Amino acid sequence: MKDTGLVAMTEFLRHPSMVGSAFPATARMVRHMLAPIDWDNVRTAVEYGPGSGRFTFAMLARMRPDARLLAIETGAEFVEKLRASSDDPRLIVAHGSAEDVGRHLTENSLGYADVILSGLPFSTLKQEDAETIMRVTGSALAPSGIFAAYQMRTAVLSLINRQFVDVRQGYEWWNIPPCHLYWASKLRGEGSYEDQIGGSASA
Ligand SMILES: C[S@@+](CC[C@H](N)C(=O)[O-])C[C@H]1O[C@@H](n2cnc3c(N)ncnc32)[C@H](O)[C@@H]1O
Repeated sequence: MKDTGLVAMTEFLRHPSMVGSAFPATARMVRHMLAPIDWDNVRTAVEYGPGSGRFTFAMLARMRPDARLLAIETGAEFVEKLRASSDDPRLIVAHGSAEDVGRHLTENSLGYADVILSGLPFSTLKQEDAETIMRVTGSALAPSGIFAAYQMRTAVLSLINRQFVDVRQGYEWWNIPPCHLYWASKLRGEGSYEDQIGGSASA
């Protein structure tokens, strides 16, 4: 089986706009991105676009023994490599698109997600696909859930702002390429956290 770095490079050369970067995330970026999440209270985590698994294994290391991680990936080679690299019973690797997160959660009896981490290259996804993914993300998250995303560009920010009331931002230089980091919570709109608490929070 191919080495992880080689899989990342070949998948990037095959599908540059879907993979976004030929280089896996650095350990420093992974720590930065995962630090604000309260892992003790995460029962169901979802990762969009795990790629070579840098975030996947770091998330598992922080998660409770009874938690589950659903990793959804379109790249067949990444899926095969991830499945072969872990026998952790908490990890489910689904071959498919983040657009179908609801179906994958249901099929695996997982309920709502407490955290959804996205590695998707939103700036190079088709606009309608990016919008669909953000919409289904809103439906898949628990009321107290967090959507976390890292991006080379800021394309995802307007989509995040449309969907969430609270949005925190960071930046990580120590990555190729350097990335914007986002942590979003409190869904807007019908059936959202705002409705459930009967509040009138604004951006
Ligand atoms: C920037 S890479 C992620 C890199 C990964 N975090 C790492 O450090 O190795 C983006 C990943 O998203 C995957 N991807 C792209 N579109 C997707 C979609 N609609 N659903 C799920 N995965 C997708 C790509 O195949 C790729 O593995």
